[in-house]
Amino acid sequence: MGTTPAGTENEQQAAKWVRGMFGSIAPRYDLLNHLLSMNIDRYWRAQTVARVSHVLANPEARVLDVCCGTGDLMLSLEAKGQATVLGSDFCHPMLVAAHAKVQHKHSRSALFEADALRLPVADASLDLITIAFGFRNLTSYQAGLEELRRVLRPGGMAAILEFSTPPNATFARLYRFYSRAILPAIGGFISGSKEAYSYLPESVRKFPGAEDLANQMRSAGFGNIRFERMTAGIVALHLGDRL
Ligand SMILES: C[S@@+](CC[C@H](N)C(=O)[O-])C[C@H]1O[C@@H](n2cnc3c(N)ncnc32)[C@H](O)[C@@H]1O
Repeated sequence: MGTTPAGTENEQQAAKWVRGMFGSIAPRYDLLNHLLSMNIDRYWRAQTVARVSHVLANPEARVLDVCCGTGDLMLSLEAKGQATVLGSDFCHPMLVAAHAKVQHKHSRSALFEADALRLPVADASLDLITIAFGFRNLTSYQAGLEELRRVLRPGGMAAILEFSTPPNATFARLYRFYSRAILPAIGGFISGSKEAYSYLPESVRKFPGAEDLANQMRSAGFGNIRFERMTAGIVALHLGDRL
């Protein structure tokens, strides 16, 4: 199971579509993120950083933010600790935007271009791996979890921040209306790609619920799995340790 954008027939086509779509919205990505979430996306990333702060405090720790996009989580991880932080993404225009921020902030973080399903990273070499709003877009969730596990040292932690389904049915209906009607209209108008912002609610709808994702993490070899819903369950943060 993984993302299946409309019109794609296999994993290769789906990955190409996802890369192209993010490439087309990269210049407006941050603006739209903050606008469409009413700036709450900053809080979601800040909460993620807070939950992994004990790892960040260790100057020896090695951290990778995969699907880093324009680099916001990566830069926050670096700012809140002393660990070495890297960022990777398979979409070049997103990395160009991230690179501009890295330079502007005189950041120590390094970026590299890579598919999250085939990371050019040694086995068991990382203490923490984070992925914010990227996991949903992978063409195979199982392969994604296996790759996260492969690069973590035993005891290392994975943090997956992702959209989810609000458990309250009334709120879920309201949110569905917002994400299907309002979000594609505003996102499409500003980014010039209505397709991208129609994909977003569709990909969230098809994504496993929070309990289901926790079970998938368990099956992939993670333990001590815990998740917290944020903002009425629009988003869930899953944490798990490599066994
Ligand atoms: C919604 S953006 C999230 C960016 C950033 N993490 C954030 O919090 O704003 C999703 C990112 O995942 C990247 N992505 C999706 N599938 C990927 C894959 N298989 N390998 C690497 N990056 C991927 C996209 O290129 C995009 O930059």
